[in-house]
Amino acid sequence: MFPISSERPQDAAQLETLLDLTFGPDRSAKTVYRLREGVAPIKALSFAVRDSEAKLLGSIRYWPISIGSAAAPAVLLGPVAVHPDYQGQGIGRALIRHSLYAATRQGHKLCVLVGDKPYYEPFGFVNAPAYGLELPGWVDPERFQVMELAPGALQGVSGMIGKPPGSRTRRKAA
Ligand SMILES: CC(C)(COP(=O)(O)OP(=O)(O)OC[C@H]1O[C@@H](n2cnc3c(N)ncnc32)[C@H](O)[C@@H]1OP(=O)(O)O)[C@@H](O)C(=O)NCCC(=O)NCCS
Repeated sequence: MFPISSERPQDAAQLETLLDLTFGPDRSAKTVYRLREGVAPIKALSFAVRDSEAKLLGSIRYWPISIGSAAAPAVLLGPVAVHPDYQGQGIGRALIRHSLYAATRQGHKLCVLVGDKPYYEPFGFVNAPAYGLELPGWVDPERFQVMELAPGALQGVSGMIGKPPGSRTRRKAA
C-alpha cells in the first residue's frame, strides 16, 4: 500500500509535470480553473503519494468555494491525479477517501467537483444541478456533482458556485 502524506513545497515541480501528464497542458482552460485563479489550495487538504525515492505518484488538492449566499463552508475537490504508470492500484480512491475524511473532520460541510460520475458516485456524490447548484461556465451537467460532508448540509443551499468571500469570479465558458 502507498502511504499518503501532506503535500510539500518541494513537490511543486513534480506536481505540475503530473498534472500536465494526466490532464494535458491546456487544463487551465476548464471552468473549474476560474474558481482556482488567484485562490490558494487548502493546505490541510493537499495530499500526496510518493514512492521511496520521493517520486510523486499521486496528488489531490481542494479549493475553498462559496455557494450562492450560503455560509456553509464548502470545498471544490480536485484536481486528483495518479501517474499513468501507477493507475488502477487504488491510489486515486485512497487519496479521495483520506481527503474527504480530513475535510469532514476539518468542519467543511459540502464538497463539489466536476468529474466522471461513475468514479465518484460510490463515494456518495450526487448530481449538483438537481440541487440548483450552478457553475460560472459550461460543464456537462452529469459531471457536476456534490456531496454532503455533514447530514442535511444541502438543505436551503443553492445557486452559483464562486470563489470564497473576498475574491471575485470571472464568467467564462470552457
Ligand atoms: C482518475 C484517477 C485519479 C483514478 O486514480 P487510480 O489510482 O487510477 O484509480 P483507482 O486505482 O483508485 O481506481 C481504479 C478503478 O476506478 C476506475 N476508474 C478510473 N478512472 C475512472 C474514470 N475516469 N471513470 C470511471 N471509472 C474510473 C477503474 O476502472 C478502476 O475500476 P475497478 O476497480 O472496477 O477496476 C486516475 O486514473 C487519473 O489520474 N486519471 C487522469 C486524470 C483524471 O482524469 N482525474 C480526474 C478524474 S475525473
